Amino acid sequence: MKIGIFDSGIGGLGIYQEITKIIPNISTIYIADTASCPYGEKSVSEIKALCQKNAQFLLQHKVEIVVVACNSASVSALIWLRNKFPNTPIVGVVPVIKKAALISKKIGILATRRTIESHYLRNLVNQFCPKSLGYKTLYQPCSELVDYIENFDKKQNLRLSQVLKVCTERLIKQQVDVIALGCTHFPFVKKEIQKIVGKNVIILDSNGAVAKQVKKIADSCNNANSQKSVHQFFTTGDVGKVTKVAQVLLKNKQIRFKSIKY
Ligand code: DGL
Repeated sequence: MKIGIFDSGIGGLGIYQEITKIIPNISTIYIADTASCPYGEKSVSEIKALCQKNAQFLLQHKVEIVVVACNSASVSALIWLRNKFPNTPIVGVVPVIKKAALISKKIGILATRRTIESHYLRNLVNQFCPKSLGYKTLYQPCSELVDYIENFDKKQNLRLSQVLKVCTERLIKQQVDVIALGCTHFPFVKKEIQKIVGKNVIILDSNGAVAKQVKKIADSCNNANSQKSVHQFFTTGDVGKVTKVAQVLLKNKQIRFKSIKY
């Protein structure tokens, strides 16, 4: 079985990693749409057009499931994409609000501006963390962190702590107990966020939940794969740079990106 995964950049590789961990014999095609990154600063209609191109490319390569490994794209275009491509299961990613609501009534959400401003997220929060039940939800945009991770460089620790201080200051002041990471880039610096907010704050990401959902669909397709799994990586950006950062983040020297141009 072959699945397609896309993100505005390399953030979705965390979801790729989780999927291949729990479905080891699956083949994947990954798109990092780096030339258009960040999606989180784009309009909904721009994001829809980019998602359509990514999905078309993946479907031309005969994937059986499409994973939108980007919160900004999922909250903007997931329902629209499912209508556009009704014959393919499409899995999205959104912050794990329901899970956060089971842990505490003081919740912080770190995400891109597009995700924070979306009706999709606001509806989730109204559903699971209503003010009427005493929930307090803080939204913190953190787009600079996306740029940091796209250009990840171990030596830039100082820049990372500066960016993280700004992103977490309000959440620490308001003493949130749980932080939901609403951008697929952020789990790559989860440890560093934990250091800044302290060990008592629980940090949740959505990667595992997305992988489980993909596995559920893959299992129901009952498409046993006896062939060796193959993983292909494409980017609309600079192949050398994206490959280098991906190898560092995934600690995997085998990963090689190829170029695609839309
Ligand atoms: N990885 C994307 C997300 O989950 C954010 C990156 C971007 O803004 O393009 O929202």
